[in-house]
Amino acid sequence: GDGGLHDRWGRVATDLRVSLTDRCNLRCTYCMPAEGLPWAPDETVLTDAEVVRLVRVAVERLGVREVRFTGGEPLLRRGLEGIVAATSALRTPDGAPVGTALTTNGLGLDKRAAALAAAGLDRVNVSLDSLDAARFATITRRDRLPDVLAGLRAAQAAGLGPVKVNAVLVRGVNEDEAVPLLAWALEHGYHLRFIEQMPLGPHGSWSREDLVSAREILDALTAAFDLVDAPAGERGAAPAETWTVRGHPGATVGVIGSVTRPFCGACDRTRLTADGQVRSCLFAREEHDLRALLRGGADDEALAQAWRAAMLGKKPGHGIDDVGFLQPARTMSAIGG
Ligand code: GTP
Ligand code: 5AD
Ligand code: SF4
Repeated sequence: GDGGLHDRWGRVATDLRVSLTDRCNLRCTYCMPAEGLPWAPDETVLTDAEVVRLVRVAVERLGVREVRFTGGEPLLRRGLEGIVAATSALRTPDGAPVGTALTTNGLGLDKRAAALAAAGLDRVNVSLDSLDAARFATITRRDRLPDVLAGLRAAQAAGLGPVKVNAVLVRGVNEDEAVPLLAWALEHGYHLRFIEQMPLGPHGSWSREDLVSAREILDALTAAFDLVDAPAGERGAAPAETWTVRGHPGATVGVIGSVTRPFCGACDRTRLTADGQVRSCLFAREEHDLRALLRGGADDEALAQAWRAAMLGKKPGHGIDDVGFLQPARTMSAIGG
């Protein structure tokens, strides 16, 4: 083949998501228990140099063209700017630069956005579920709304954009916030996406009955705004379906309907956890240990070969609707968002 990350279902992964830590300074109810989780021991977490080595192998040998850093909370990683700079300097075999992006909760981004942009970061997605301080604190279990807003402003000022905002609506807490969030995003020039909650948090925190669905969100939005389908073909492998908003040139709003409108058939992702495991899918039941290979002295081609083999176990879909579905043992924060 072409050396790329092919699965058995005809998909090719060109988008790498790298978790830089399983730790977080928030405790979103749909993601983590209040007390946190047993964090990965330090010696199991890849060093900055190890992360950069694996990203380089992915870009130089495996066809990866886009790298997104996630967590846990990736801003907790002190070496983030250096990792971003090293990634930005990489070139694909045909000489193209690598796209770099960050998914963050925004805490501390106000102080680092400029340095991240200078390091070559292209884009940032910030999670924000509520504009009401009390509700924000109910969902995240921390009273930090102003810090997130400051982070968003700094990201936009630094040109890390268009800045996207990810919002999860939680039944009984912020389910009525679709319209106010969009009004706010339009006012500030953020590209808002609503995300359906997936069964990837603390066991028992998800139920289909409580899911705030893409349909429900779109019904609320279309009652208040004139949404126009984004040009056909624009979605590609992106998880979000997007619309433009009449009267607001340049603005988009999206829905990521992972549960009720799965996009698995177009998936172009591969994942690396903070402790050096390759996962072919968020919902994969298997992990492939690149850390052991790396620390055992494997050369670049051996690492690439192990990564290609890992993708052969990728399932056609997430399986949430299958009888007997079991969520993965690790939660989203440990896998990488
Ligand atoms: P863009 O390139 O900016 O569109 O990035 P993105 O939307 O892929 O990245 P982001 O990290 O902002 O992810 C937003 C949400 O998409 C996540 O919170 C997940 O809910 C969902 N998501 C991301 N990756 C996957 C995936 O591999 N499978 C599924 N089912 N959902 C995913
Ligand atoms: N389902 C959907 N999205 C989730 N996120 C965290 N846990 C879940 C879940 N169970 C989102 C966060 C953030 C992104 C990284 O993942 O809200 O926007
Ligand atoms: Fe932290 Fe993101 Fe999980 Fe919230 S969703 S606890 S911000 S890792």
